[in-house]
Amino acid sequence: MATVPRQHITQKKIAEHVQRLGEHYPPIPLDSVDRTIKRPGLVARKFGHVIDYLARVELEVDRNVLELLVLLPDVDETNKTFYADVWQPQEIQHGLILDRLQQDLGRAAAKPHLEVSFPIKILGALANLRPIQDIAKLMYFLTGASTERQAVIAYNKINQGMRELGETAISETIITPIKQQEPGHFAFYQMSATAMIQDKVLKPWQLFLTRVMREKSYHLVGTNQMKQYQADMGGVMADLGLDHDLAGYAREIGRVETRLLWAHKQGMEFPPYILKALRESVDLYRERLQRGLKFA
Ligand SMILES: [Fe+2]
Ligand SMILES: [Fe+2]
Repeated sequence: MATVPRQHITQKKIAEHVQRLGEHYPPIPLDSVDRTIKRPGLVARKFGHVIDYLARVELEVDRNVLELLVLLPDVDETNKTFYADVWQPQEIQHGLILDRLQQDLGRAAAKPHLEVSFPIKILGALANLRPIQDIAKLMYFLTGASTERQAVIAYNKINQGMRELGETAISETIITPIKQQEPGHFAFYQMSATAMIQDKVLKPWQLFLTRVMREKSYHLVGTNQMKQYQADMGGVMADLGLDHDLAGYAREIGRVETRLLWAHKQGMEFPPYILKALRESVDLYRERLQRGLKFA
């Protein structure tokens, strides 16, 4: 049984949230960026890999939109406005700005992975059946909440690091404006998933299936269930110092689904599959390091 959150989330509230995001946070223009970098070599050494990873993930937003259209063939107005008018235009700018930053640091341009994966296509084919579509929708919102939370944490950490390095232009004109846009994305997914549980859209068997599918398919932001990207993500966690407390990180990025899907498991701090995914990533990265390669 799911817990009943204190505040009822109505569809109207979600629609208003989307509208506010659109009004308050226009996409960040490329020419608003101050491209001053005091010590490019040092920035590249400390954060090159992280910027590389984030640039790729942000640029993959176009694939995420395709996935959404595959998974939610009957997408409603609010979701459409969110992805078409708010989310995609914001994320693509994040990607372009970070991609240019890494090239300013003397690194190669990002290579986004733009092909929709086979499991998504299968789920998409099944999503034409109404009961499956509702499951796909909840999975989509939970994935969004978890990945946006990972983005919020990564940008907070990287911003702190840039400030410590005295790279004020990067911090103030790149990372800060980007990081201000991520919590609104997180809130959208969080509210949308919460509303589905509150409104009891899913029957117990559908919730059961959602849990099983989360267990089988959970993956960290940008890993696309591919080993190479999982190892890259392990490197991001190491570079941002997130690998010291994986349980704490699992709690942060799993909070929404712990509350919505696993409330009946008393005392569960986070779903075990989240910690497993984090461990796998860090292990793959360490194995790669042992082979003497930092990047694939
Ligand atoms: Fe972003
Ligand atoms: Fe985002």
